[in-house]
Amino acid sequence: MTDVTKPRGSYQVTTIAGSAEREIERLSAQVDLFWPDESRHYLANGLRDGISMVELGSGPGFTTERILNLLPEIRITAVEIDPLLVKVADDRLSPPFGDRLDIVEGSITDTGLPSDTYDFALTRLVLEHLPDPVAAVREVARILKPGGRAVFVDNDFEMHLMTSPHIPALSELYGAYCRSRADQGGNPTIGRELPGILRSGGLSAVTFTVVSAHSDIVGSKSFLGSEGVGIPTKLVRDGYLSSKALGEIARSWRELMRDDKHAILRQMYLSAGEK
Ligand SMILES: C[S@@+](CC[C@H](N)C(=O)[O-])C[C@H]1O[C@@H](n2cnc3c(N)ncnc32)[C@H](O)[C@@H]1O
Repeated sequence: MTDVTKPRGSYQVTTIAGSAEREIERLSAQVDLFWPDESRHYLANGLRDGISMVELGSGPGFTTERILNLLPEIRITAVEIDPLLVKVADDRLSPPFGDRLDIVEGSITDTGLPSDTYDFALTRLVLEHLPDPVAAVREVARILKPGGRAVFVDNDFEMHLMTSPHIPALSELYGAYCRSRADQGGNPTIGRELPGILRSGGLSAVTFTVVSAHSDIVGSKSFLGSEGVGIPTKLVRDGYLSSKALGEIARSWRELMRDDKHAILRQMYLSAGEK
């Protein structure tokens, strides 16, 4: 069971974007956006068919679903702290995937899973929200088999979405986002710190790379759902961002989309290590 007395960190699906429904849609679009580049990094880091994998902070299970579809003999244990998201994932994925998927309600820092069990572990967009990411890596290392590999993917909001033409007000948005997440115990610029955190958590042979999505490759529309207006609107409501800045971003974004030569680039940061 989840210990409600412990700090949960900076992610709550019901409040981060105003409504859980809207946020779940954003998470889905964010998986679509990166999957073509992201999946090849997972395969290069030991993800393969027939293995036993654990995913930590799996949320509604959009990445889980992609992997189960890609690799027909893989078995996945998905650990998620939020009972609402456990139910969403269970309703969506248990009927089609049956006993290839086990969804467990629990925390990445205390999974209750047996030691030395999994060939591959994935933790996507979770460490950035935790007050103690090293403790999370230590727990992932505990449940990995010796020789198994763990992949961690996170954002770094000082090196986030970039556009051409440049939208200066986006830096206000990401500054506001960083202040808001940091106030809740998260670390929104954790991307650059990942290799050190993995080593402190007990992993070796640590690597680091960038996962990217570019509008010329994946299409501009892919960015609309994954960036969304839910989080920016909530930042205005909570007093972190001015409505003037949000209006300026919306106006500049419309102009950008009308520019035939526009480009949008977003990146996530991936670090992997071995037990
Ligand atoms: C930004 S969402 C990412 C969800 C999913 N990994 C994805 O990439 O779409 C962060 C997820 O981590 C979960 N989470 C936060 N703290 C957690 C913890 N201590 N243990 C397990 N999951 C946690 C949240 O409930 C949420 O599902």
